[in-house]
Amino acid sequence: MIKEHKNKNLKILRLKNIFKKFGDVMALKGVSLNSYEGLCMAVLGENGAGKSTLMNIISGVHQKTSGEMLYLNQEYIPKNTKDAEKLGVVIIHQELNTVNDMTVLDNVFLGSEIRTNLGTINYKKQLSILKEALQEIEINIDPMIEMNKLSVAEQQMIEITKAIIRDAKVIIMDEPTSSLSNKETLKLFEVIKKMKTQNKSIIYISHRLQEIPVICERMTIIRDGTFIGEYLVGELSEDEIIAKMVGRNVTEKFPAKFKKPGQKILEVRALSNSFLKNINFQVNSNEILGFAGLVGAKRTELFKTLIGLYQKDNLEMIYLGKEVNFKSPNHAIRKNFYYVTEDRKLEGLHLNESIKFNISLSSIDKFKVKFLNSISNAKEIKNSQFYFQKTLIKAPDIDRIAGNLSGGNQQKVLIAKALSANPKIIVFDEPTRGVDVGARREIYDLIYEFKKNNNGGIVVISNDLPEIIGLCDRVLVMKKGAITKEILETEMDQETILRYAI
Ligand SMILES: Nc1ncnc2c1ncn2[C@@H]1O[C@H](COP(=O)(O)OP(=O)(O)OP(=O)(O)O)[C@@H](O)[C@H]1O
Ligand SMILES: [Mg+2]
Repeated sequence: MIKEHKNKNLKILRLKNIFKKFGDVMALKGVSLNSYEGLCMAVLGENGAGKSTLMNIISGVHQKTSGEMLYLNQEYIPKNTKDAEKLGVVIIHQELNTVNDMTVLDNVFLGSEIRTNLGTINYKKQLSILKEALQEIEINIDPMIEMNKLSVAEQQMIEITKAIIRDAKVIIMDEPTSSLSNKETLKLFEVIKKMKTQNKSIIYISHRLQEIPVICERMTIIRDGTFIGEYLVGELSEDEIIAKMVGRNVTEKFPAKFKKPGQKILEVRALSNSFLKNINFQVNSNEILGFAGLVGAKRTELFKTLIGLYQKDNLEMIYLGKEVNFKSPNHAIRKNFYYVTEDRKLEGLHLNESIKFNISLSSIDKFKVKFLNSISNAKEIKNSQFYFQKTLIKAPDIDRIAGNLSGGNQQKVLIAKALSANPKIIVFDEPTRGVDVGARREIYDLIYEFKKNNNGGIVVISNDLPEIIGLCDRVLVMKKGAITKEILETEMDQETILRYAI
């Protein structure tokens, strides 16, 4: 069911009945997709539905198993990303790969350097082209700065600049906003709007459904590797979109809150260092404590300081009735204080190892055989299997490589790894980054179960205000390294939180 858009924009790309097999996994089972000149096409589907796989096929990262691809009415079979780029198809990946100590300038022209007649790199020309492109999308970034000094949002802007310089016709963005703040997202939207006026064709993936009507004209829904339909934005309500994505209704987005007074698990007094200012708070059992604030409020840094990653100038920390001072994250984990990172790719997972390896990594002590200096393989498998099932990771078995899982399923491995360590305090930093609506609820249920049954403390750091409000029993708002407000459940709303965050 494909309806004509009122502007009759030209179809740039046409994919029909695409299949893709990875070993014994059939990731795509007959998916169709169109992209149109001057329009933004959303691709929606659950974690593991096949969105990234489809984008990787369009951009030459992977080859299709079968199906038809037309680009500007010609058969299109890109052999690799360079090939696709040359033809004008550029992808900005779900997990950016640009972080290194190269300058912005070198990074942008890497692999497609402009040369002088003598064959040397023409830096002057490259610099002027880059400056012009940055100006075009009104981005103020120094071309000589190193890539790793940029924020995720800035790195993304550089990727977009790259696409502009390559004169891309089709620009694919795979979850570009999952690590952006509201303000950065709006900036990205301005750039996308501008690209649409220049007749670029955008393909846009996001699990934040509220973004779709703001930036897209059309949407394609896929479920479990199959094509569900192509629709005009506005044709379906959000609940209808969700029902088509997951194949059932998801009405209640959060579990009901319950109250049972708990005891004090952690008290932090007068914590300060070069970026934190006199932090005081308490975490109780059977309670979910939220940390809200803008990007840069230093919430992540606060908890990384507590687990010994940063220097503390002053701190008194009472944990389970005793004064402690963690020297390292491993020391914290040994004492059952677990921080679940927001950066699963760099800090969280061993992407080249199996699901089993990753789940048991922080709980190796559980599998030690008494009196022997060895690990029980059977115990390890049983344990990983248990948490694999508990967190509903979508994969055929625990021996699959973590890096081959879809983004949302990698996030679940990270959570399984944390739960397996039997923490007494668990700090979730952006627990649902890149997780679809249905699986989000599954993760919230896991957090609730922990709250109810473990007598432990839970902290949730999140940029997603509906998540903070829907999930937490109490919220602390941070701004520039200080706690500015404590908000109780009865007075929790977006305006109040934002008032103390900005
Ligand atoms: N290189 C690979 N090897 C084996 N299986 C793979 C590979 N890449 C993807 N898959 C599998 O293909 C399926 C689709 O994954 P894909 O990453 O396309 O999902 P997605 O829709 O992008 O999900 P998410 O929203 O979580 O990012 C998954 O079952 C995944 O494990
Ligand atoms: Mg993906």
